[in-house]
Amino acid sequence: MHCDDITQLRAEARALEQTLPIARRKALGQFFTGPRISRLLAHLAFREDTGRVLDPMAGTGDLIEAAYAVANERPGRIRQLHAVEIDASVAELCRRRLEVLTRGAGTDLRVLCADAFDAATFSLLAEKDYDLVIANPPYVRYQTMGDRGEAVRAGLLEAASSVLKRPVRNIWATLANGYSGLADLSVPSCLLCGMLVRPGGRLALVLPATWRTRNYGKVVRYLFLRAYHIETVVEDSPPGWFPDALVGTHLVVARRLSDEAAAVPLSDRREWIESDWVKLDRLAATHATGAGQKPNIGRLASWILGSKSGSRPEGTTLRTVSDQDEWDAIRAGGRPPAWLRVLEAFPQSPSTQRVKPSRGPDPGWLPHALRDVIKPNMRAGFCTLEDLGLRVGQGLRTGCNRFFYVQRAGEPSGELTPVTTSTAFESRIVLVPTAALRAVLHRQTELATLASHGPPTLVLDLRAWVLPEDMDTVNAALPAYERSGLTVPQEMPAGLANHVRAAALASLPGTAHSTVADLSAVRTNVRAAGPNSPPRFWYMLPDFGARHAPEALVPRINHDTPRTYANTDPKVLVDANFSTFWSDDARWSPDVLAALLNSTWCRLLVETMGAKLGGGALKLEASHLRQIPIPSLGGDALEAMKTAVRSADASSVVLVDRLVLKPLLGRSASHAELDALAAVLRNRAARARDGRRRSV
Ligand SMILES: C[S@@+](CC[C@H](N)C(=O)[O-])C[C@H]1O[C@@H](n2cnc3c(N)ncnc32)[C@H](O)[C@@H]1O
Repeated sequence: MHCDDITQLRAEARALEQTLPIARRKALGQFFTGPRISRLLAHLAFREDTGRVLDPMAGTGDLIEAAYAVANERPGRIRQLHAVEIDASVAELCRRRLEVLTRGAGTDLRVLCADAFDAATFSLLAEKDYDLVIANPPYVRYQTMGDRGEAVRAGLLEAASSVLKRPVRNIWATLANGYSGLADLSVPSCLLCGMLVRPGGRLALVLPATWRTRNYGKVVRYLFLRAYHIETVVEDSPPGWFPDALVGTHLVVARRLSDEAAAVPLSDRREWIESDWVKLDRLAATHATGAGQKPNIGRLASWILGSKSGSRPEGTTLRTVSDQDEWDAIRAGGRPPAWLRVLEAFPQSPSTQRVKPSRGPDPGWLPHALRDVIKPNMRAGFCTLEDLGLRVGQGLRTGCNRFFYVQRAGEPSGELTPVTTSTAFESRIVLVPTAALRAVLHRQTELATLASHGPPTLVLDLRAWVLPEDMDTVNAALPAYERSGLTVPQEMPAGLANHVRAAALASLPGTAHSTVADLSAVRTNVRAAGPNSPPRFWYMLPDFGARHAPEALVPRINHDTPRTYANTDPKVLVDANFSTFWSDDARWSPDVLAALLNSTWCRLLVETMGAKLGGGALKLEASHLRQIPIPSLGGDALEAMKTAVRSADASSVVLVDRLVLKPLLGRSASHAELDALAAVLRNRAARARDGRRRSV
């Protein structure tokens, strides 16, 4: 290897990364791993029998160079080094870099400029069973992927049928068919990388933490559990290894199981293992990424790979993760997704499982950290919020709050109300029909207004108002209004029409010069008239659903202890800054629902199951909330809770806690016993909250 050349090429790679247009970087997920994290992952993944290596999304070659370099320092030799990269300039630099690296070594080097999701790509490489597939799958959100999403799915399905043999082919095909359309590109990328590893070989990935925090990541969790054995996970800590990353990062190394072992469904698995996951705190992460002192990546990797005994490197923490917990987490959260129902037997829904006394203090799907709370003599069934008839979702997304949200500027006069537009529209005062305004809870700072005069922010709900120039279209569609039973819209007042026209023409700062009407999330409001469906225009928000005007809500980002608020009369709309709860069952009034979620049990579970963010905040997405196990409450508990919340003083909290905890201790439990358990849980919730805030 020619050190000068390779150093020069590395510098070129860094420089190229900086010059790539940001829109392309986002569309292709071009955020490269860098030398230190690449070396750490390569050290963790390389074994003596690693002869054939692939990076199917290789970028400028950071990971694959690291794999080759680590191999040169250890016994064993990489004979085949294969890379695929979709972007021509990036692939070309990768090729030059790997050519210099392997010069004179007789390595079978192939760098393809191709789409990894195109079935033709892997026919060019011939091998489909590598000893090591190492990759940093592109993190591209589905909104950015646009129409490409379905081509990716189709390519993945084709690859599964050509690369894999029965019976594991069915696993991949079901996951490829079934992963959510809301998944980011790292999800299908993981499925693709996973199928290219030979049984017994290794998959080494740099993954966004979404594989564990998002519901859509469950397919990846499932794949790791069903077809792999996870050997090592290293997690970053805030502020994280990658300054641009929106989410945390994990390094995951897993060994592929034999096809026979993978063929056994998890519901039939009898033996489960536990493994230690390593978290690198800011100090260790700084070492690993290269700022500060020269890191000793090899030593850190040896410690991680070894027994993790002996002197623990500064700044590392360990936690034990059991495969059985993983399986519980995948199954938790209401009705299993279709792919899971295809791949696993569900004789009994996990949400209705009883905690059998024979299982001792291990109630199955409680988070590991809480299992000791449940004593062997406690008897409890657990259920999810959905089992209780509650629904969980996210509040309103308008696609452009700067246009659709306005502030009340005075009292209504006649049928019009004065409102102030956002600063993007020069904070103009506009008179808007009062009937076209709905109060919306936009930010946490407005929470106190729920209990008084209502939030100051209003939504422009223009579903029944059109621009004068759109009246012709409306009139042409009169039969469609009649057939659909919808009211024919009226012409909007002149001042409002001027504001709407201005928004259709003005480009908004920070939106790549889009006008409001052009924004991708607003364009979808437009619908041409059909025989039975009247037209819709860009300024008409879609109809509001129950999740937008829920019974209760909790902020999605919480610095303090999360608190759920009742959305009582008059009910307001709730923004997507909040997770929302609602029910078709009238017994779940807003107050009762909020009381349940503010019970000590729920607060502790929420604190444990939410996602910890940089800065010590706790994120509560609907996917986290749907998974909370709640002691199975009978109908009588619900009635009693209703009575308890009526007292609306501090005693109602105690009463609700007793009702929620009673199924755990049994009917004969005394108030003193229930209060003592509540105190233990409250303490724990406070410790967990303080712990996350300290982890900043
Ligand atoms: C997160 S980067 C990682 C690159 C490199 N492995 C590293 O670790 O630095 C992801 C790379 O995947 C490439 N990519 C995105 N979609 C691809 C596709 N469909 N086929 C092949 N490469 C793709 C991007 O251009 C980008 O270079």
